[in-house]
Amino acid sequence: MNTYSSTKILSADESGITEAAEMLRTGDLVAFPTETVYGLGGDATNGRAVAGIFAAKGRPNFNPLIIHVADTEAAWRYVEPTEQAAQLAAAFWPGALTMVLPRKSNCPVSELVSAGLDTLAVRVPSHPIARQLLRKVDLPIAAPSANRSGRISPTKAVHVKAELSNLIAAILDGGDCGLGLESTVLGFTDHGPVILRPGGVTAEEINAVTPLAEQSHIQNDNKPTSPGQLSAHYAPSKPLRLNATEWQLNEGLLAFGQVTHDGPLQNLSSDEDLLEAAANLYHMLRTLDASAAETLAAMPIPDTGIGVAINDRLRRAAHDSENDKDT
Ligand code: TXA
Ligand code: MG
Repeated sequence: MNTYSSTKILSADESGITEAAEMLRTGDLVAFPTETVYGLGGDATNGRAVAGIFAAKGRPNFNPLIIHVADTEAAWRYVEPTEQAAQLAAAFWPGALTMVLPRKSNCPVSELVSAGLDTLAVRVPSHPIARQLLRKVDLPIAAPSANRSGRISPTKAVHVKAELSNLIAAILDGGDCGLGLESTVLGFTDHGPVILRPGGVTAEEINAVTPLAEQSHIQNDNKPTSPGQLSAHYAPSKPLRLNATEWQLNEGLLAFGQVTHDGPLQNLSSDEDLLEAAANLYHMLRTLDASAAETLAAMPIPDTGIGVAINDRLRRAAHDSENDKDT
């Protein structure tokens, strides 16, 4: 594995973005901000760079990665859009939607990115720094979340630094990620699109553009699975109890709403605002994990809108298997 004597922290100005783009073009790994979480970027057409991403994350198996491109036109250079995909791109790109589509026959993206599948996940991020970087580098950039395998996704440059120092060439510091939760991953079946991973764009929002396949249809179908979907992810090191309505002093409480607790407390949103809760989720899990709390407890979160994605991540964070933490 490549190691670096130091990881450069680049400020997200013209010269920092130019330097980051040059590093990516020469096959180095650079973490960069997106509107969801920080990504660990590498040139998707360079097999060595892609292998380096898996090594730096310590990902035990080759889960497929998302490529990031500057605009929709660039996305269609690498994958074949279906009609629904084109509609969804028009509605949600740039933004927190990832679409899994068939690779074009002449697709120059390393097969390692697709982990042997004939599909490729693509996304056009909306973060202005990510967009400037992608425009400058003019290559598809493979980027999983910039955390070590099985750990909580980073929403600040310092989170990336804490886990990937000396394993990547640079971190482009663009401050906090606005959304704080990964993109929605969408696959396509004969019956329509299916959500493989809930995220920043909600099922309601997608349904308003083109109907999602009905669950009953998918069950009879060969449901395309997102390899990352079944595993334990986003995990703090302390055990996490879900749907807590009462709590002990030695528990770190991840609260939602008006709450008091004499032990370690992080409130996702005292106003019960789900968007605020999504933005706070990962750094508050980190803070509680680093606190004096022996174990963690999370209050119930409404399972609507982006709450579906928050609950998905909380369930994975509470998963106790150490075997397959791989995102
Ligand atoms: O918001 C995000 O999506 C962030 C930022 C950096 O863009 N990236 C991210 O990447 O979360 P990662 O690698 O942590 O998660 C990618 C997800 C995994 O669940 C993976 O299994 C799924 O996308 N995926 C990627 N390619 C796929 C494919 N060809 N078929 C099915 N699922 C795929
Ligand atoms: Mg991840």
